[in-house]
Amino acid sequence: MPRIKKAEELIKQSDKPNPSITRLSKQPQLVKGMKDVLPHDQIYWEHIRSIVKKIGDDYLFMRIDTPIVEHLNVYTAGLGKQTDIVEKEMYSFTDQGGDNLALRPEFTAGIARAYIEHGMVSLPQPVKLYAFGPLFRHEKPQEGRYRQHTQWNCEVIGEGKPVVDAQLILLGYKLLTSLHIKPIVQVNSIGCRSCRIAYRESLVEYYRARRASLCDDCKRRLNKNVLRLLDCKVETCQSLISKAPPIVDSLCDACRDHFIAVLECLDELEIPYQPNPHLVRGLDYYTRTVFEFYAVMNTNESDVQSARMAALGGGGRYDDLIEMFGGLSTPAAGFGIGIERVVMKLKELEKASGTKLIPRRAEPEIFVAQLGEQPKRRAMVLYEDLLREGFTVAAEFAKDSLKAQLEIANKCNATLTIILGQKELLDGSIIIRNMGGGEQEVIDIKKLIPTLRKKLHGEQQKGG
Ligand code: HAM
Repeated sequence: MPRIKKAEELIKQSDKPNPSITRLSKQPQLVKGMKDVLPHDQIYWEHIRSIVKKIGDDYLFMRIDTPIVEHLNVYTAGLGKQTDIVEKEMYSFTDQGGDNLALRPEFTAGIARAYIEHGMVSLPQPVKLYAFGPLFRHEKPQEGRYRQHTQWNCEVIGEGKPVVDAQLILLGYKLLTSLHIKPIVQVNSIGCRSCRIAYRESLVEYYRARRASLCDDCKRRLNKNVLRLLDCKVETCQSLISKAPPIVDSLCDACRDHFIAVLECLDELEIPYQPNPHLVRGLDYYTRTVFEFYAVMNTNESDVQSARMAALGGGGRYDDLIEMFGGLSTPAAGFGIGIERVVMKLKELEKASGTKLIPRRAEPEIFVAQLGEQPKRRAMVLYEDLLREGFTVAAEFAKDSLKAQLEIANKCNATLTIILGQKELLDGSIIIRNMGGGEQEVIDIKKLIPTLRKKLHGEQQKGG
């Protein structure tokens, strides 16, 4: 049968359902709120991972990977029962063995668990840890809010000095600025257990007088955990937040001094920040310093309004968590930055500026093309030789036609294409084609490497 006819025949056959395959009635689809990171976006992720690794090395943070699945009580006890994450967003389940488990919605509680369980208290303190990976929250999906998201998360456990809070803010700031994002940090102090008692009372009093205007969640949380009301995202509650008494007025001397020292350090480091007297964050474990990173889109530093919805990251001090988990009294602080949001912001900036802000993958110097079965196998070996010699190489060995291969070489912007056919294989020669001008020359294959070096890197051939 002629080749084309045979191919048409095969295509027709593949159109017909294969009776031995049971097809799904509906094609599988992405779970709502989840996101594929497609190949063309990987450059952003790879670049961010490389910066995060460099920052970790520069500041002596050690990487930690905790499991995605933890016992449910790590989060119910750690994050607070009245938080949105615990009340509404956790992917929790009972496994076949009857254990109550949860997919981690955040890193800090799991890392605190690991710190205690592995006796890290006996290491030189503070222990500086970072993690990078997926987290799961059953939130209402929208732009920048997913049910699986990724965080770069840093924790400093075993040190309570304000300089730690400032250095953590510096680390987050560094990631964002090295990606050309202009960050502004909102910062507040929510005090310690003792100074929060008086504040809670004044806040309850304030909200009781306005109970009728509160959303149902806030009404319910008013008597149980009034601080959560300052974190409510419902629009009608937002205007009440802005007029609520600020917590800084109730701070004890030690907490006030700590806060001032953090701000002084940020001033010294020239990190732009805005005190936000109502920032409490969405988790119960925080004490003293809390902060969030926002991106400033234009030169007006007060223009964080557009970014209000989507903090790029946040964190704070959590001096009581380790003790709550049964460890010794151990001060700690940390932050997490949401990578999907950072990638979104990066793309937004690239679009607005019309420039590529992160390095693209190097284009291949050499495309290896071949014609014929034997040359193909030889070219595959040549490809390995070129890689070993340090060239960036591309090829598509599954293609037989030279035209198709040259089209691919063009698409991937290769500088040179080397072509090995049956004739060249017999002669011990090879063709080098300059993809810019299209001119070709035939050379002795033994001289291939020095010739390529000379053409690509301007290096002189040895002995000639
Ligand atoms: P968080 O504020 O809940 O803090 O999350 C940190 C960052 O993760 C957010 O600012 C945001 O960029 C990103 N993020 C959170 N939820 C989502 C989502 N559904 N979709 C996309 N991005 C999201 C924490 O998780 C704390 N554990 C941070 C911390 C570490 N505090 C002390 N140490």
